Amino acid sequence: MPETCSPEVLQTLLDRVAQEARQDMGEGKVADYIPALAQVEPDQFGIALCDVEGRVFQAGAGDTPFSIQSISKVLNLVIAMQRLPEEDIWTRVGREPSGQAFNSIVQLEVERGVPRNPFINAGALLVTDILVSRIMSIQYLMREQARRLSANPTINFDTRVARSEMDHKARNAALAYLMKAYGNLHGEVDEVLETYFHGCALSMSCVDVARAFAFLAHRGINPHDGSEVLSPQQTRQLNALLLTCGLYDAAGDFAWRVGLPGKSGVGGGIVAIVPGRMSICVWSPRLDSYGNSVAGLRALERLVDGLGVAPLG
Ligand code: DON
Repeated sequence: MPETCSPEVLQTLLDRVAQEARQDMGEGKVADYIPALAQVEPDQFGIALCDVEGRVFQAGAGDTPFSIQSISKVLNLVIAMQRLPEEDIWTRVGREPSGQAFNSIVQLEVERGVPRNPFINAGALLVTDILVSRIMSIQYLMREQARRLSANPTINFDTRVARSEMDHKARNAALAYLMKAYGNLHGEVDEVLETYFHGCALSMSCVDVARAFAFLAHRGINPHDGSEVLSPQQTRQLNALLLTCGLYDAAGDFAWRVGLPGKSGVGGGIVAIVPGRMSICVWSPRLDSYGNSVAGLRALERLVDGLGVAPLG
């Protein structure tokens, strides 16, 4: 697979996975610490994959836009990796799994304001701070990048979600101020938060996300237009970081169950990469206690099993 897998077989597999996801509906809870997300109809499921030739397959609500939330942290890191020298990023944020909740403040104090990795909230805020200080109109660029990578010019911010996050910013503001107190975050906290929340509030479907992340399966090349998004080395590095840190304190369990680099968001989306083969996005809003989609995780397990992909052996 997928060389041996015809489009018909792939589509049948996706349809089956979408059908089986119905049995997982009702488990878990939508994220309600962001009130705008609590209003999403919980029992929905979508799935899409994009192979390295740019072919897209989808099932269920694969076309329904959702709030990508923490999946945006990867897109922001990509902008930083494309435009800034390595040392400007990695002297201010680590590359180690945190073993802590995505929004925990405990480790940040112990480690003097240097976040463990760019995917926990503190690390993503730090990357946003770097972008805000270096790049004009960064919010506009974040949206442009999402549109270009997914070949969908209609992608936009859900401003209601961004506003809702800003209205309930206390914990992220606390993380940002703590990093500022340690001299690691340089900009204005509210500007960093606004920018970070807008990235989280990008509204994309499983098809959009699968397309946007296909370059990570294709040595950094976007299959839709042949452009180089990241170098092969940077792509390998980013996939390594996604495998070890992409699902926070459930990263080990995800590697065990799914065995792929991945990134989740509290909107219920999870993107996973099969290097050399395809990118996959699943979405279902109900989350487990780690903030990861319950039905999405199970669907990924079933899909990987059905495809027989096992990059880890
Ligand atoms: O900052 C937050 O808490 C959210 N905007 C994003 C958190 C998130 O998606 C964590 N992922 N599972």
